[in-house]
Amino acid sequence: MSSINYSEKIPNNVNLSEDRTLQRALEQWQPNFLGWWGDVGPDGSSNFDVYLRTAVSVDPQGWAQFGHVKMPDYRWGIFLNPAEANRKIHFGDHKGEAAWQDVPGEHRANLRRIIVTQGDTEPASVEQQRHLGLTAPSQYDLRNLFQVNVEEGRHLWAMVYLLHRYFGRDGREEAEALLERRSGDQDNPRILGAFNEETPDWLSFFMFTYFTDRDGKFQLCALAESSFDPLARTTKFMLTEEAHHMFVGESGVSRIIARTCQLMNELKTDDPARLRAAGVIDLPTIQRYVNFHFSVTIDLFGADQSSNAATFYSSGLKGRFEEGKRADDHLLKGQTYKVLEVQGGQLVEKDVPMLNALNEVLRDDYIRDSVGGIERWNKVIEKAGIPLRLKVPHKAFHRNIGSLAGVRVSPDGRVVSQAEWDANVARWLPSAEDRAFVGSLMGRVVEPGKFANWIAPPVMGINRQPVDFEYVRFA
Ligand SMILES: [Fe+2]
Ligand SMILES: [Fe+2]
Repeated sequence: MSSINYSEKIPNNVNLSEDRTLQRALEQWQPNFLGWWGDVGPDGSSNFDVYLRTAVSVDPQGWAQFGHVKMPDYRWGIFLNPAEANRKIHFGDHKGEAAWQDVPGEHRANLRRIIVTQGDTEPASVEQQRHLGLTAPSQYDLRNLFQVNVEEGRHLWAMVYLLHRYFGRDGREEAEALLERRSGDQDNPRILGAFNEETPDWLSFFMFTYFTDRDGKFQLCALAESSFDPLARTTKFMLTEEAHHMFVGESGVSRIIARTCQLMNELKTDDPARLRAAGVIDLPTIQRYVNFHFSVTIDLFGADQSSNAATFYSSGLKGRFEEGKRADDHLLKGQTYKVLEVQGGQLVEKDVPMLNALNEVLRDDYIRDSVGGIERWNKVIEKAGIPLRLKVPHKAFHRNIGSLAGVRVSPDGRVVSQAEWDANVARWLPSAEDRAFVGSLMGRVVEPGKFANWIAPPVMGINRQPVDFEYVRFA
């Protein structure tokens, strides 16, 4: 007889030890997860002691405990926010009814699809980032990378818990498949496009955590409104972790910009060639990375008109961002929303039923939110007395999904010919040469308190530790 107390082996607040079937299923999945982590998780990291934040419960004392741990010993757990008594469905056709504690049969396939699609992004990003530890610009940054990685691993656990607990055999099969797909794999890729792109360097990593983890925030916020209460409670807790990922991205890009501006002033130049020779990343290159990551990420919201989006909303599976704070009828029937399309060589707005445009609604909420960080980056440039400003490209630029897919649009929103696109694309998107240059800067810095030449130190350390704290102890 096994005497393993599973409620200790997997930290959780879902009474795992009282559900033997679920316990056994997760017991079988756990070694496969660790095998996946060993195969395609952070490269060469298994002996490092890393100063990580671990959640052991969802209350303020328990969700952010800091200490050095070996990453494969990280306590990936299952945490749901506390249940809200008598929670009611607050949008869609079931509005006013009690929230579901189990999966209604008629919504089973759609809910499973939503959970699998979210779950698939979590291990994908770990795979995309797996080689970055080899070129970390500092111990502080290495620690932040690993923090993001272990939490994406925990987000996978969160979705797998839902699949195992509520979807029986097909849920268990989906949980296995989540460990089998691979980012960028020709035969068995991850589900969504942006999660099959490479994250080859640290500028890409910071852009990814700023832009693409923010897509995560908006998807999770929409799912936190779900009528399926366990999904709502799970995603609410995931959001507490997501905030740190976006902080890593925003502060990372900000520190790169600060260092570049410092060199621009020291050398009194804005010539990219001279700045590159001095070993920093010129601002036009940073703008091209913004253009790339922004456009690839807004594709993640899906087609601008989608009958699935309407179904997910009306049946109560997925709400809007901050659904509860909106002062409308939360049914949206008969309402319209503006989407873009090309007519006679021009971008024009047209009104479509809002229910079908809910992907576009969420994309527009995302765009408003992501612009904020760009403004803070511009403050750094402004403070240095440099006139250039970064901006997000037009939302029709470089799109691959929906009615704008394949239409050639410049970053400032003009429909252009293929010839004009070809002549300018190297100014608009990172070229092979840009990527090779950024790649050439990447080299590992391991001494506490030391930073690579192309990035400024952070203003503060993690958990009030000094910047030169030993965040990673190398074995
Ligand atoms: Fe995540
Ligand atoms: Fe994340």
